[in-house]
Amino acid sequence: MTEDGEPRGRREVPAILAAKTSGGSLTRRSLLAGGTLALAGMPMAQAASPRPARRVPFGAAMQAEHLGDARYRALFRAHCDLVLPMNELKFGLVHPEPERFDFAPADAVLDLARAEGQDARGHAVIWWNEVPPWLAAVTEPGAAERALRQHVETVVGRYAGRLASWDVVNEVVAHEAPPDAPLRDTVWLRALGPRHIPLAFAAVATADPQAKLVLNDYDLEFEGDRYDRRRATVLEIVRQLQEAGLRIDAVGIQGHLYAEKRIDIPALAAFGAALRRLGIALMVTELDVIDWRIPGGAAAQDAAAARIVGDFLEGVFAAGRPAAVIAWGLTDRYSWVDDAMPHADGTPSRPLPFDADYRPKPWFDLIERRLRDG
Ligand code: XIL
Repeated sequence: MTEDGEPRGRREVPAILAAKTSGGSLTRRSLLAGGTLALAGMPMAQAASPRPARRVPFGAAMQAEHLGDARYRALFRAHCDLVLPMNELKFGLVHPEPERFDFAPADAVLDLARAEGQDARGHAVIWWNEVPPWLAAVTEPGAAERALRQHVETVVGRYAGRLASWDVVNEVVAHEAPPDAPLRDTVWLRALGPRHIPLAFAAVATADPQAKLVLNDYDLEFEGDRYDRRRATVLEIVRQLQEAGLRIDAVGIQGHLYAEKRIDIPALAAFGAALRRLGIALMVTELDVIDWRIPGGAAAQDAAAARIVGDFLEGVFAAGRPAAVIAWGLTDRYSWVDDAMPHADGTPSRPLPFDADYRPKPWFDLIERRLRDG
């Protein structure tokens, strides 16, 4: 770390958002046109809650396709202050054709949350994945900017006032985050250059002035140079958005925790403190445990999960309370981890706070205690 408490490597990061590209460079005027920076962000749900009193809200991502499972619904009702549609608001799913939108799956999740008196959030406007074919074919900057504006006006505009926050950009930091190319190569970067990031923040701020605006990313919690670079790149993007006069309210740390890795607690604490100095909140947005490298069966997996989640919470809370802690699902019965990162020998993963039979894991107690006591 440097003396001012920031991750190493920051000075190597170039002026990310101002970099010249085929799409032109960032200008303050183009970004602020029509934008409002007002912000409310108070909790929106008013109904009486069956859930425990917590200083920090707990939430989870919900999947519309499992809503027929009554035990699944009951788990969310009992434990979540906040829910979000896991996939249903991703670009290609909600906006599969240029003039066709499919809101029914997202509505199913969000209407249930409202009926349960839970807050909700949106995920995600800009992402490299779930890009529909029509959008993948867009290369001309004007067409890309029109597609972004139309998408935000229609999708963010539709839910305006109902979502406490939006992941405006998701995973825009390049996987390795080399200093000379810190941003991920996406359809947006190719068509618009780095200015797609401020464009998206400005557009979402206009379409839903109340929603908190979040930059969401992964691999921000571990020990090592690559993680230092990723933290530094996130801080640099935040600074550049602020220098351009744009509103950003929070950074989301996804928190997909590789159980064999080590959390860099001091670096995470410094990252949170640096964000706080910039007036930016921290939230945990996609917590789960990837235990593919943990042999020995369920007890060993759960012990490893409790260790890594404990260290993670230590680092996250070191700079103050996060705005929320959100898990990427609730039950091991439904998780992406076994599809994306399975055990080589077929051992089932145990990524989420409740097992496949809806029983809480030891690490859920850790979460509950932390969120209650702050
Ligand atoms: C995952 C979902 O969990 C899966 O159901 C889907 O098939 C693919 O996407 N980072 C993110 C999430 O930001 O949107 C991803 O969600 C997991 C990694």
